[in-house]
Amino acid sequence: MTETFRVALSGDFKRADGTPTYPDFDLEPLRLAPGVEMAFIDSESPIRGELLEDFDALILLAHRFGKESIPQNGRLAVVARFGVGYDTVDVDACSEAGIAVVITPDGVRRPVAASILTFMLALTGKLMTKDRLTREGAAGFAKRSAHMGVGLIGRTFGSLGIGNIGSEVFRLLKPFDMALIAHDPYADRNAAAELGVELVELDDLFRRADVLSVSCPLSKETHHIVNAKRLALMKPTAYLINTARGPIVDQRALTEVLQAGRIAGAGLDVLEKEPPDPNDPILKLDNVILAPHALCWTDQCFAGIGAADVTAVLDIQHGRIPRGLVNRTVVDDARFKERLQEFGRRFGSGDRMD
Ligand SMILES: NC(=O)c1ccc[n+]([C@@H]2O[C@H](COP(=O)([O-])OP(=O)(O)OC[C@H]3O[C@@H](n4cnc5c(N)ncnc54)[C@H](O)[C@@H]3O)[C@@H](O)[C@H]2O)c1
Repeated sequence: MTETFRVALSGDFKRADGTPTYPDFDLEPLRLAPGVEMAFIDSESPIRGELLEDFDALILLAHRFGKESIPQNGRLAVVARFGVGYDTVDVDACSEAGIAVVITPDGVRRPVAASILTFMLALTGKLMTKDRLTREGAAGFAKRSAHMGVGLIGRTFGSLGIGNIGSEVFRLLKPFDMALIAHDPYADRNAAAELGVELVELDDLFRRADVLSVSCPLSKETHHIVNAKRLALMKPTAYLINTARGPIVDQRALTEVLQAGRIAGAGLDVLEKEPPDPNDPILKLDNVILAPHALCWTDQCFAGIGAADVTAVLDIQHGRIPRGLVNRTVVDDARFKERLQEFGRRFGSGDRMD
């Protein structure tokens, strides 16, 4: 092992003109960290392993990290994804090579939870409609009493998934005086109870929610879990919000339900196809609010994601298991354990940054 702890940033963290892709990602804590050296690598997608041979850690933006990205000399200890999606990373290949894969739930929790609230308030307050009416002048004002919003006190907010983001939504909802329900087969029952959330069966979630928000991962189990049959269980006054992944919702079925006015509306940050086809009928509906998979994108979101990656990388440098570990089995991998112990000996175990 060499003296410094070397951190690579994938090439897409810089634009073609050399300026940072995300200026809110503050690299100073990494630059100033004792014993750390950082460098932008000249990578393309997928990243070639040879480029990473002189590094202990990689912070990865959008470039793919596949089998071919694994350096053969066994030095790389961690791949830290900038965000929480890791479909661009071959996690099995990393696990086989004793490399930790880390994501940044701490960075997205509040921003995505805030976008769910944004959709809820905009939908129930009929914000888009009232904006349009105002622009129509006197004719619009004359129509305003036909567009009453929906008050939230005593209404039921339901979440499909009560993990990192779902739990944060419930925390933020406390002062809204709503009834809180969730369906999550893997929920921590005590944590749900502490949040005042009643755990319910899947179909009951659809039957009971006035606002139903999707906050579960996309998997074989959740693909099209929001389908025609379940949408038919929803109240005609209910709203659906999806900020998780497009294919969790059968979009064709949702479009039909919205066209027929069988639910009140939807807020969608994610679609089955992104960007959507220009003639996708969902784009024509005025009971839907859409966002381009970016409603949570704020200065603080990007700063938070970056800070979470830096914390994870510095955890590794000091021999600590980082938060947001995707491949938990790596903790028992002899090569990973040995590297972590050696880092701890060299750089001291110190305190976590946050
Ligand atoms: N729109 C965006 O920009 C954006 C940003 C960040 C995350 N996300 C997405 O939000 C989703 C949630 O993220 P998170 O950080 O809360 O993840 P998380 O893993 O902390 O929580 C997900 C929860 O879903 C639950 N779950 C799994 N299968 C389920 C099922 N069949 N039914 C109901 N619940 C189920 C899990 O038990 C877990 O509690 C992810 O899909 C993520 O990709 C979107």
